[in-house]
Amino acid sequence: MKKKVLVVGGGGRCHAIVDTLSRSPQVAKIWCAPGNAGIAAQAECVPLKDTDVSGLLSFAKEQGIDLTVVGPEAALSVGIVDAFRAAGLAIFGHTQAATRIESSKEFAKILMEKYGIPTADYRSFSDFQEALDYVNARPFPAVLKYDGLAAGKGVVIAANPQEAEAALRSMLLDEAFGKGRVVVEDHLTGPEFSFMAFVDGERVYPMPLSQDHKRAFEGDKGPNTGGMGAYSPLPFITDEDYEYALEKIMKPVAAGMVAEGCPFKGVLYGGLMKTPQGIKVVEFNCRFGDPETEVVLPRLKTDIYEVFSAVAEGGTSLEALEGTIDREGKVVPASELMPELEWSDEATLGFVLASRGYPGSYSKGFEISGLEDALEEPSIRIYHMGTKAESGQILTAGGRVLMVVGSGKDLREARDKALAAVRKIHCDNLFFRTDIGHWVL
Ligand code: AMP
Ligand code: GLY
Repeated sequence: MKKKVLVVGGGGRCHAIVDTLSRSPQVAKIWCAPGNAGIAAQAECVPLKDTDVSGLLSFAKEQGIDLTVVGPEAALSVGIVDAFRAAGLAIFGHTQAATRIESSKEFAKILMEKYGIPTADYRSFSDFQEALDYVNARPFPAVLKYDGLAAGKGVVIAANPQEAEAALRSMLLDEAFGKGRVVVEDHLTGPEFSFMAFVDGERVYPMPLSQDHKRAFEGDKGPNTGGMGAYSPLPFITDEDYEYALEKIMKPVAAGMVAEGCPFKGVLYGGLMKTPQGIKVVEFNCRFGDPETEVVLPRLKTDIYEVFSAVAEGGTSLEALEGTIDREGKVVPASELMPELEWSDEATLGFVLASRGYPGSYSKGFEISGLEDALEEPSIRIYHMGTKAESGQILTAGGRVLMVVGSGKDLREARDKALAAVRKIHCDNLFFRTDIGHWVL
């Protein structure tokens, strides 16, 4: 029997997940909640918010959904996985307890310290004056991180005492993101990269490495964004670096979470930095990266339905981690369910087209044309990040609007193809960075 799949989320990352699932011979139909105008071509969009756990649960039961896959952290952190599991439904994603690896900077720091995972030294504070005295007694820049979800705005790299004081004041006295603590950590330098893996308890199944470009403008200038482009693979990471990151970072954190009683069952995202002192963790996320997913999943040759269901099957109890329990109640080692992951040798590189003004304020509702023309080249994929369809037109509907991904025999070819496709897309209110991949090209 072919499977019914529900994907929760609506941005470019979910479009890439839906696109990859739609290549699976086992999948009969995909629903996506809430989805977007691009996703609608491959899935039936359901007008439910990604955090509407009870609505999504009722929908999954009514439709007889075989497997649910969760994209955004917001849905995970409100406990969608816990609710689906309690109802006996298969779901790919971490429990609320496991999402603390992303939602609490302090939890992540304590875990890394306890399990010897390399990261910047830190201290955490709830008192403004103590935090300020500590920061002022140390070298600048200072890295200040609000201990909670802050929509990507909770990290401040303060260049001097004035900036540090303003940030601490906002986080600890004005409680700009709510009541919480602040982690102060040492400033690291070096290129950042993203290491994503499918994780089932202690078992870590790595994906190819990728790199995001967080700043809004060319040359890595301007404000931080959700990501303006990405590419994969990464020539500047050696085999030795990779082994180190896998063995000393990704596997130990998975084992640590099992030991803490909150095992992973989903994607672990390591935001890593290649510093002069070796590879260190900048952050962990409990989900696929965006825009990294849009360049990594197109390289997956294995049936992703098998991958998601292997991780999602079975219980969450620690005993069940030793062997996952299949539908008939037999204990099967998860490693037997998990197919061997195969990845294409082709390189991928993608440009994000964002609304003028993003990440600050911007207008929406501008018509986008030329998408079909751009898609004529078979090696091009266009993922919708923030669009909507209205009277037969595709309109801009978000800060990040589209991601145009090219693939080719190497990064240069992937870049040239993607750039040629971007040039065919017309819209009065979009901008993009032309220098994606500048670290290596
Ligand atoms: P985070 O949300 O923790 O990933 O931080 C956002 C961005 O701030 C990272 O992608 C880095 O570019 C930067 N950052 C965070 N922590 C550090 C650090 N310890 N040293 C230097 N840069 C950092
Ligand atoms: N690309 C960064 C993130 O997904 O958090």
